[in-house]
Amino acid sequence: MSDQGPFEIRPGTGDDLFMIAGVLVDTWRSTFRGLLADDFLNRMSREEQAVRHARRMGAAGVCYLVALEPSTREIIGFANFGPGRGTVPDDIHEIYALYVRSEHQGLGIGTALVCSAARHCAEHGAKSLFAWVLAGNPNRKFYEQLGAKAVETTSIELGNRSYEQIAYLWEEMTPLLTR
Ligand SMILES: CC(C)(COP(=O)(O)OP(=O)(O)OC[C@H]1O[C@@H](n2cnc3c(N)ncnc32)[C@H](O)[C@@H]1OP(=O)(O)O)[C@@H](O)C(=O)NCCC(=O)NCCS
Repeated sequence: MSDQGPFEIRPGTGDDLFMIAGVLVDTWRSTFRGLLADDFLNRMSREEQAVRHARRMGAAGVCYLVALEPSTREIIGFANFGPGRGTVPDDIHEIYALYVRSEHQGLGIGTALVCSAARHCAEHGAKSLFAWVLAGNPNRKFYEQLGAKAVETTSIELGNRSYEQIAYLWEEMTPLLTR
């Protein structure tokens, strides 16, 4: 899609699913150890996540973007997004997942993925964009720095335990579209 310094971003395809699942499992373990139960994190599997994301990739309006390390062509981050889940108007889209491998964080990859996702959503009729973030996620500041506002709190079940999560909303996507 575009060259952006030490990484590239392009649309994700079915061929990428196993690498996407690897990024997801490794990043959950490195980010959420201590916040989520160890047995839940230990039980996560790349195979199961690949199947889950294959199903999601086939759903109407859902898109994936992957960030590549230019020399190895390995996937080092990804975002997936599409129509807002739940009872939300058609012009509110959602980022369902956003993960960058720990050794590649802080290089602007997350920002580039969110801005590219916002451009895609705007081209498909979105006026606003949101993402659910665990309340205990140490990276909530990332969303705040990009201009999203915490607007709603609910709970999510993970491994038979309940956790608080927060919806971060960009009511206007202009700040993302002009970056
Ligand atoms: C959160 C995440 C997607 C951000 O991606 P990234 O590539 O590391 O972020 P960027 O380099 O684009 O950072 C953008 C800004 O957010 C800030 N930021 C990112 N994480 C932060 C943190 N934990 N605390 C404070 N600021 C943070 C950066 O400092 C940067 O600010 P700057 O523009 O003033 O330099 C990535 O760190 C990640 O995948 N983390 C683990 C999994 C996760 O939490 N995913 C989100 C699930 S909802």
